[in-house]
Amino acid sequence: MSIGIIGAGSIGGAVARALARARIRAVISNSQGPASLQALADELGPSITAGTREEAARAELVFVVVNWSKLPSALKGLPPWNGRIVIDANNPIEAPLFRPADLGGRASSEVFAEWVPGARVVKAFNHLPPALVAGDPRAEGGRRVLFYSGDDRHAKAKVGEIIERLGFFGLDLGSLAIGGRLVQFPGGPLPTHNFVRFD
Ligand SMILES: NC(=O)c1ccc[n+]([C@@H]2O[C@H](COP(=O)([O-])OP(=O)(O)OC[C@H]3O[C@@H](n4cnc5c(N)ncnc54)[C@H](OP(=O)(O)O)[C@@H]3O)[C@@H](O)[C@H]2O)c1
Repeated sequence: MSIGIIGAGSIGGAVARALARARIRAVISNSQGPASLQALADELGPSITAGTREEAARAELVFVVVNWSKLPSALKGLPPWNGRIVIDANNPIEAPLFRPADLGGRASSEVFAEWVPGARVVKAFNHLPPALVAGDPRAEGGRRVLFYSGDDRHAKAKVGEIIERLGFFGLDLGSLAIGGRLVQFPGGPLPTHNFVRFD
């Protein structure tokens, strides 16, 4: 399955690092173009390629990891999603004010889903700081837990497979409306906790 990453900052870079460690191929992109990401791609090795936003968006599974207020422009004008899987790793809050976005009472992933019409959205990779996403998921002697939520069972299964291939323990939290809220930051009870599963 081809993988793209839109957003190459703290969390996008951490996702790329985790994929690179597992030798999973991915195209990473930002707003400034591939040349600005060449050093990162060189550092991460041959499985990670710097590409354009459009190239990343054409993958079968696309991580989106962009500051909340910039998501509409980052997702504008891309090819139709046609049921491809999009991982929403975003939180509806950002520096410097850290004022939660007004979501009108909805889960943030339900709002996010409107910016990627036709995509199968899975919320994941949003609840830990970058160092724990990029770091060894077995560092504490078990497997670090990553949560995932979504409304499409097949899309969730694919994301669950990738989480396991990366060495994490994947935990399905249910729908975007329910699971998405549990893992939402701010507001949900799960974010920032580094849960470890001992087999
Ligand atoms: N940092 C955390 O601890 C953390 C943890 C979990 C989840 N998150 C969530 O992850 C998301 C990203 O956070 P971050 O900390 O990684 O932010 P960040 O370090 O500021 O990185 C944001 C990235 O988004 C890219 N971007 C902005 N506008 C874009 C556009 N129009 N097209 C393509 N790329 C664009 C930026 O590229 P340019 O630099 O080229 O503009 C940059 O690579 C946020 O929603 C945040 O809530 C963050």
